[in-house]
Amino acid sequence: MSWFRLTARPTWRVRHSVVSNPADMRRNILALSGSLHSSSANSALVRLASSLSDALVSVDIFDKLNQLPYFNPEIDVEPAPQAVAELRAAIQAADGLLIATPEYAHEMPGVLKNALDWLVGSGELYGKPVAVLSAAPSAERGEYARRALQQTLAAQGSRLVLSATVAVTPAARRSGETAPETVQAVAAALSALATSESAALGPLARPWLSCDSWSPRPTTTQRCGSIGTRSA
Ligand SMILES: Cc1cc2nc3c(=O)[nH]c(=O)nc-3n(C[C@H](O)[C@H](O)[C@H](O)COP(=O)(O)O)c2cc1C
Repeated sequence: MSWFRLTARPTWRVRHSVVSNPADMRRNILALSGSLHSSSANSALVRLASSLSDALVSVDIFDKLNQLPYFNPEIDVEPAPQAVAELRAAIQAADGLLIATPEYAHEMPGVLKNALDWLVGSGELYGKPVAVLSAAPSAERGEYARRALQQTLAAQGSRLVLSATVAVTPAARRSGETAPETVQAVAAALSALATSESAALGPLARPWLSCDSWSPRPTTTQRCGSIGTRSA
């Protein structure tokens, strides 16, 4: 069921055409960029998503990936490092995630993978709808990064609602102008997230530390004292 439609207007603004939308159905989306540099095209996508917030969709940006320590099970204890706790709380509070990632050496950047590793044990991604975008110089690129990201997201039980490369040409980057196709791509991601039903399971504690066996699905809400053995 689609309860609203998004269409880009010539002014690059997005119109939300309400089909049916209960007033209390505003979706909270958390947006992450896997790129740290100040002129990042992927961070620009995330800021664009935030600018499209309205009465139906609220987009907050989590921009502290560079403050996360390198994941180490030995420091994955309570209390969690502050940035880790903030990331976990922000994802827990969100109805869905928008992740924009560049491709580095046919992968997602290490800083993004590191962030996802911090969520394995605490389980915030389980059942969470996620839209994946990759801003790349052409539409043919970015696919390796998206696939790698999707594999990690699936392993943590999240639900992919959309995946797309957004072509941001070097000329477009230099001009600083946002193409209508870029707005449409971000709007489509928000629309997919807004119309996706969250599994609403909440975080399941330490799914990967569930004692005996490695499982792609959390089987317990109990915290276990030791790291499970990956058997598959
Ligand atoms: C270290 C490094 C590795 C890269 N590796 C790839 C790659 O494997 N495939 C690709 O298509 N682009 C690659 N790129 C290009 C970036 O993915 C591309 O420019 C992207 O749009 C950068 O996004 P950003 O501006 O958000 O950082 C690489 C760039 C860097 C800096």
